[in-house]
Amino acid sequence: MLLHIPDILTPAEVQHAQSLLADAPWLDGRASAGSQARAVKNNEQLPHDCDAATQIRTLLLRGLDRNPTFFSAALPKKVFTPRVNRYGGDSNFYGNHVDNAVRFAPDSGQRVRTDISCTLFLSDPASYDGGALVVQDSAGPQQVKLPAGHLVLYAGTSVHQVTPVTRGVRLACFFWIESMVRSQEQRQLLFNLDMALLRLRQQHGESDETTALTGSYHNLLRMWADT
Ligand code: NI
Repeated sequence: MLLHIPDILTPAEVQHAQSLLADAPWLDGRASAGSQARAVKNNEQLPHDCDAATQIRTLLLRGLDRNPTFFSAALPKKVFTPRVNRYGGDSNFYGNHVDNAVRFAPDSGQRVRTDISCTLFLSDPASYDGGALVVQDSAGPQQVKLPAGHLVLYAGTSVHQVTPVTRGVRLACFFWIESMVRSQEQRQLLFNLDMALLRLRQQHGESDETTALTGSYHNLLRMWADT
């Protein structure tokens, strides 16, 4: 699964986030990486509790809340506290790695299993060179570089990297989701069914068939969801 969800943030929210980051207190990103990742990581992150990080997190969580595609794709049970990072200058890449399977949320100490990895792009892609997120999936390496305010979701099990930023600065938010449906295969099936139902309703309106299929969707979710 690799899913692009546009417009999680409005242009005004993106601009607000960018202004908050203009003189934010950046730290070495290696502090939050596991030992394998630390060896290949060279970027900067905001302290999770600074003002800019807190405000951007609020914008992002609000954006996720109002987005039905995000909910359908992720079926979130827990969302790890989103963090903000920066690639540019001498701290400009993150080599191939797999994210740690379990993260401890900084506020609550709550464990989050990283079923899904997420990146929200915060910089205009024309403002920097390099900085693509490259995710190895079953179809080979997928290059992702999205407009500001757009989100990508990919399987937490994937090897991935951020290629060196050779001009400008790449700002992004990153976080993980523990899904109610742990299996990628089951989650994908539910998402496909939900999206097909949405299109069916748009084209033909409500019918006994859409009611029956919606029932099947919910009964599958009931069977597979761990709440
Ligand atoms: Ni990663």
